[in-house]
Amino acid sequence: MPALPALGPDDVLAVPVGSGATLPTWLIRSGPVPVVDPDFLAGALADTGNTGKPATQTLVPIAGRRPRSILAVGIGEATLPDVRSYVAAAVRRGQALAEHGARRLVLPLDSAAAPAGADEVRAAVEAALLAGYRFRDTSTPHPRRLDAVTVVAADADDPAVIAAARTGQVAAEAVAWARDLVNTPGNVKNPAWLADAATARLADLPHVTVTVLGPDELRSGGFGGVLAVGGGSATPPRVLVVRYRHPAAGDGHPVLVGKGITFDTGGISIKTNAGMREMKTDMAGGAAVLATVDAVARLELPVAVTVVVPAAENAVSGGSYRPSDVVTHVGGRTTEVLNTDAEGRMVLADGLAYGRLELGASVLVDVATLTGAMKVALGAKTAGLYATTDGLAEALRTAAAHAGEPLWRMPLAQEHGDLLRSSVADANNAPGNPGGTTAALFLRPFAGELPWAHLDVAGPARAGSDDGELVKGGTGFGARTLLRWLEAGAPVDPPATVVD
Ligand code: BES
Ligand code: MN
Ligand code: ZN
Repeated sequence: MPALPALGPDDVLAVPVGSGATLPTWLIRSGPVPVVDPDFLAGALADTGNTGKPATQTLVPIAGRRPRSILAVGIGEATLPDVRSYVAAAVRRGQALAEHGARRLVLPLDSAAAPAGADEVRAAVEAALLAGYRFRDTSTPHPRRLDAVTVVAADADDPAVIAAARTGQVAAEAVAWARDLVNTPGNVKNPAWLADAATARLADLPHVTVTVLGPDELRSGGFGGVLAVGGGSATPPRVLVVRYRHPAAGDGHPVLVGKGITFDTGGISIKTNAGMREMKTDMAGGAAVLATVDAVARLELPVAVTVVVPAAENAVSGGSYRPSDVVTHVGGRTTEVLNTDAEGRMVLADGLAYGRLELGASVLVDVATLTGAMKVALGAKTAGLYATTDGLAEALRTAAAHAGEPLWRMPLAQEHGDLLRSSVADANNAPGNPGGTTAALFLRPFAGELPWAHLDVAGPARAGSDDGELVKGGTGFGARTLLRWLEAGAPVDPPATVVD
């Protein structure tokens, strides 16, 4: 039985209801002061048809008694996704109740299906903070929010559980920062703003060095893709380089590259208004890798990792790059521009080549809101994963499954390679369909012979509505997967043993 805190009239107590409307044993033998009569609660569940399906809810106000109400929420079989949806549903409802006076949500995790261990506690802390996320208010009035969410688990004294709670908090706060960066509008954020935001948050963390390359350095470094895309903007491009090296790090050095287009108008190949509206979120890949290194550094993981964010605004002016331009990337490979709206691959090409040639990467992973085609293929919840080695793909899939971020591996099908041909350059930047795959094929040579994975997050980088731990707007998708992968030591080879 978890040690429930004393409950008062400002508290809402959540009760996890398992499949078949089963109530947790700690509620049924609820100690010297029963918080609620289980028969009374079972009746309320039956009346409302709540059979414990994950996230279904029944609110039972407790007039004149303590606590102020009981929120019975489905937890299904208490799998990790079930725990996430239980917590997210409880927190979201708790925030609504806060507008009517509730101050604290007490959230026990132990259910009839299973006691909660370290994994459940980490998932719960992440879900509680992320479902409760709100963008810094730019509107008024501000509805009243809960003062606290108290997560209760039977093993709360276990050091592994305490560490899991802290890791979950650091991960969620990093993801919330990524969401803030993504949700910041394009009239506020630009490449220099992004560089300043990253420096302000990261530069003082242990073992971290932040370097910002400006236009002069980009010219001398040969960043032709970044300069071309950024050329049309009144706010010139930057490349952010965040190095983290723990003294106990081994030999491997992953370099994570995130697309940092602070606004994507499409450029001269201009988007329609409907297609442009969401394009402040086109730096979500950059935000995800920045959040990853933020969490890695706060947790002081014993690894080395470098994050590269090529940041540019794809704007329209006399300085814009144009269809038919030929651009030379870091390392000398050239691209014929057929469509200025295929700008993400132009900047990622420089970032990947820079990671390989100048930063000494042992493995490259990029994250990008790269193609509308990926959204068409996989929908708004699932990212496309391309990888040059099965071991890297498997490791990222495992990490994503733990993180609760859906990934689907897509084929790097060479049969479409001919579409990339150009008569004036090494490749063209708009090879056509299958759009997600041809974009990945475009990027592949910039990784050379290094193991390389590409996450196209065009769908899941942004949520159209509140849903579980997601809040309408930027999601921070990718950060938790990469954090898990780095926690596991950034494996590239297949695991030695496969556990089902
Ligand atoms: N940022 C967009 C991709 C995108 C579209 C992300 C919708 C999220 C939602 C990217 O820069 C882009 O415009 N891609 C083009 C590429 C094409 C011109 C080859 C696309 O997908 O249409
Ligand atoms: Mn574009
Ligand atoms: Zn874009």
